Amino acid sequence: MDTIFNEDFFTAVHKIPDASVDLIIADPPYGLGKDYGNDSDKISPDDYLKWSASWLDLAIPKLKPSGSLYIFLTWRFSPEVFCYLKKKMIMLNEIIWDRKVPSMGGSTRRYSSVHDTIGFFALNKDYYFDLDPVRIPYDEETKKARSRSIFVGKKWLEVGYNPKDVWSISRLHRIHSERVDHPTQKPLELVDRMVLASCPKGGLVFDPFLGSGTTAVSAKRNGRHYVGCELNPEYCSIIDERLRQPFAVDLELNFASSANGKT
Ligand SMILES: C[S@@+](CC[C@H](N)C(=O)[O-])C[C@H]1O[C@@H](n2cnc3c(N)ncnc32)[C@H](O)[C@@H]1O
Repeated sequence: MDTIFNEDFFTAVHKIPDASVDLIIADPPYGLGKDYGNDSDKISPDDYLKWSASWLDLAIPKLKPSGSLYIFLTWRFSPEVFCYLKKKMIMLNEIIWDRKVPSMGGSTRRYSSVHDTIGFFALNKDYYFDLDPVRIPYDEETKKARSRSIFVGKKWLEVGYNPKDVWSISRLHRIHSERVDHPTQKPLELVDRMVLASCPKGGLVFDPFLGSGTTAVSAKRNGRHYVGCELNPEYCSIIDERLRQPFAVDLELNFASSANGKT
């Protein structure tokens, strides 16, 4: 059931049955000319939008009726891609991934861009979503500050709050132990939240553009199945290696680090 296709998405996608996937997490090339050992990110803006529509048209039918999709984009193309997707799915959120870029220089003729844009979409209004595993616990200081009688015994104070649509999670640096040799590897903490909230235990997550395999690793360590595609054989070796590592930590209810436990 767990499958990595070292193949072009446009070939491999036909091997995945329609309506079999609980969740799609897609982190496609951003159309910014990155080198992934292939030409996949070296296309004109017009072609990028046509290409985005063509892979989305093939990926969306793989979702079960309760399924949902997260798509990573930049501000450059997210407006057009979101408009396209809104004709096919229900838009639930625009999530801003604040990559916690330190303030050092940056653009001088406009503001420095320090975020990625993530669209969250569902096929139907009764889509699967489980808030509890991704709630952010309050720290003791905040709990104490909410000690007025109207707050006493409130479930949300004990179980934590609902993550907001700005996710401040550091991008990966060389010093991070999970970092591997891929130019746009996403942090596990980011992808774990999507997997835990939007795929039931034992369900199937599909990543059309696996890169270093963050989605597959997240699915595995959180008790979900995965299927995905990656063109570059070297990245597929990295994925194999990452999937062989032991996963000691159970991550559920462990998002305090990104949010500091404060509202
Ligand atoms: C933005 S990266 C994904 C990074 C990934 N989320 C991670 O955490 O490592 C996009 C990946 O898509 C791959 N790719 C591009 N076009 C593809 C295609 N048509 N089929 C399969 N993979 C493709 C690239 O080689 C690149 O590794």
